[in-house]
Amino acid sequence: MAANATRKILVTSALPYANGPLHLGHMLEQVQTDIWVRFQKSRGHDCLYVCADDAHGTAIMLAAERLGISPEQHIDIMRERHIRDSDGFLIDFANYYSTHSLENRKWSEEIYQRLKANNHIATREITQAFDPEKELFLADRFIKGTCPRCKTADQYGDNCEACGATYSPADLIDPVSAISGATPVERESTHFFFKLPEFEAMLKQWLDSDTLQPQVANKLREWTDAGLQEWDISRDAPYFGFEIPGEPGKYFYVWLDAPIGYIASFDNYCQRTGHDFDAYLQPGGDTELYHFIGKDIINFHGLFWPAMLHSAGLRTPTAIFAHGFLTVNGTKMSKSRGTFINASTYLDHLDAEYLRYYFAAKLGDSVDDIDLNLEDFIQRVNSDVVGKVVNIASRCAGFLRKGFDNRLASECAEPDLLKEFIGAGEPIAALYEQREFNKAIREIIALADKANQYIDGKKPWVLAKEEGRESEVHAVCSVGINLFRVLMTYLKPVLPVMADKSEAFLNTSLDWTALESPLLDHQLAKFKPLIQRIDPEQVEAMIEASKPSEEPAPNTPSEQAGKAEASTASDTIAFEDFAKIDLRVGLITAADHVEGADKLLKLTLDLGELGTRQVFAGIKSAYLPEQLVGMHTVVVANLAPRKMRFGVSEGMVLAAGPGGEDIYLLQPHDGARPGMQVK
Ligand code: MSP
Ligand code: ZN
Repeated sequence: MAANATRKILVTSALPYANGPLHLGHMLEQVQTDIWVRFQKSRGHDCLYVCADDAHGTAIMLAAERLGISPEQHIDIMRERHIRDSDGFLIDFANYYSTHSLENRKWSEEIYQRLKANNHIATREITQAFDPEKELFLADRFIKGTCPRCKTADQYGDNCEACGATYSPADLIDPVSAISGATPVERESTHFFFKLPEFEAMLKQWLDSDTLQPQVANKLREWTDAGLQEWDISRDAPYFGFEIPGEPGKYFYVWLDAPIGYIASFDNYCQRTGHDFDAYLQPGGDTELYHFIGKDIINFHGLFWPAMLHSAGLRTPTAIFAHGFLTVNGTKMSKSRGTFINASTYLDHLDAEYLRYYFAAKLGDSVDDIDLNLEDFIQRVNSDVVGKVVNIASRCAGFLRKGFDNRLASECAEPDLLKEFIGAGEPIAALYEQREFNKAIREIIALADKANQYIDGKKPWVLAKEEGRESEVHAVCSVGINLFRVLMTYLKPVLPVMADKSEAFLNTSLDWTALESPLLDHQLAKFKPLIQRIDPEQVEAMIEASKPSEEPAPNTPSEQAGKAEASTASDTIAFEDFAKIDLRVGLITAADHVEGADKLLKLTLDLGELGTRQVFAGIKSAYLPEQLVGMHTVVVANLAPRKMRFGVSEGMVLAAGPGGEDIYLLQPHDGARPGMQVK
């Protein structure tokens, strides 16, 4: 173990939004964080990694509405999926919580009250675009219109994709709400602001204090130099979030309570486990706090967050570790090229450790983007991990099994070589500590090359055929296994499953602290394959599966995400489960617009003997209400009634198709009677 004493380290990665599935960009961040955390633990430190879903905001509220479920249901489903994906990538969270939690409400209110008591909260009226149909204020990205410069239609509220112009939504020609299509009006409302300018001196000191990567500090200095602005921390109802105490109809902006979610997740962990919570929150203690984040959110973590913490009398982070963005094959991840790869799609086709290794081989301490080049990925993993590292063990294991009953020699024939491998440990540890994983991997693979050269030079396969040279074969292969053990110890933070399997084979735990004593006269277990080569066809299949299945693109990215997710759930149900569903033919006798809902229609269904039902269905994008009257549909008749914002829905209408304009109900059919069972 390192000479220094046990450190108490709390680590976070950014809280993924609960409105879409995790993709490989998220996994880059979680894998980077996880490797660092596992490294700290392997060095004997008390290191905890907490995270959560970021559950609040307008986008999540709208996504839930589109799916016809409550925001609470929506975030529960997403959180479960996120946890499953992170698990699949072997991310070792101490706790994965949600910002929509009691702890987070408590801490958000508490911190807000402290800021307010310190006179760091201002209120004033602002004018904002308002959707009169949907009755909500519109953030810039929810307004569309014609570009004032090049006149291209259908551009988002703050910039034009065609000519690159940036403008304010008020400049758009014929602006419309992207949610309802209504023309926005201007409306006044009181907002709450965090007085960031009062922290200018504190933040300048923080930016100069070496807590940040130089590129990040420089970027943030552009903000402080330009003059800090007060930060708008409130949003008006309807909003899915926490209401501001004493301010009915006003909610905390999602970015206020999101970082507080780090504290809340850790609080929840400490309550569950009895871990010391306060020691990590008080300024001036000896605990460490690190936030791993992407480069797109450095202002929140590098300016607003430390200022808030400072005002609230809480400790600021020890450091913030920002990383760059993931590109695939040299460009931004793209749905049409099949390179916008969801975490679950990857896991359907490939082993998590391949990507963990590849990310490690590319990640450094800077904010440079990281490219996943798929050919390089296959080549690199197969050549380094399988061809070099595993190869050492597999070639030696064969001889040890055949000639020596899986028992290692009682002396080390190459003490200097082994010493060199062990001696590389501290420099490699220093590289992990500095998040220079790429350099650590380069060192480790250089050692693997050396081990293979050693075995190649000794040619145990030749010796094995010669009379009286058994002990030489034994010696060489025993050295090989000891070298392999050192390498796998160094790789354990990156390849935890392969390390587990190696531990089983080596019949010892891969412990950084135990390396000094070689495995001598030691019994190995039977060698089993540690990892398979990547078959390029698996990668092909993953890309195919990531391409959109149908041409019509749903309206918004989050909607698309929701749909893709809904259609990939592949868990099976038992026949008994299916048999519980009472499917009936329903005759649509009336269909009405629902005020305030952009996707829903209210259907009145005749179910024959079961009577009349009112059901809300998200099919407005495909049908005019008058088209629907007289149509038949299949209805889940025994679905428990659900209270929605617009009323109670007493069943569910089944339809086929990818969504948008393509939603197909049954055509009326002779002989299909309302209420008839569907079998
Ligand atoms: N919810 C906020 C973070 C709140 S933290 C208090 C958020 N969520 S996110 O889902 O959009 O992104 C989560 C993290 O993933 C961020 O750190 C973001 O930078 C990172 N990434 C998202 N896409 C990415 C890539 N393509 N590449 C690398 N990281 C990316 O931001
Ligand atoms: Zn334009």
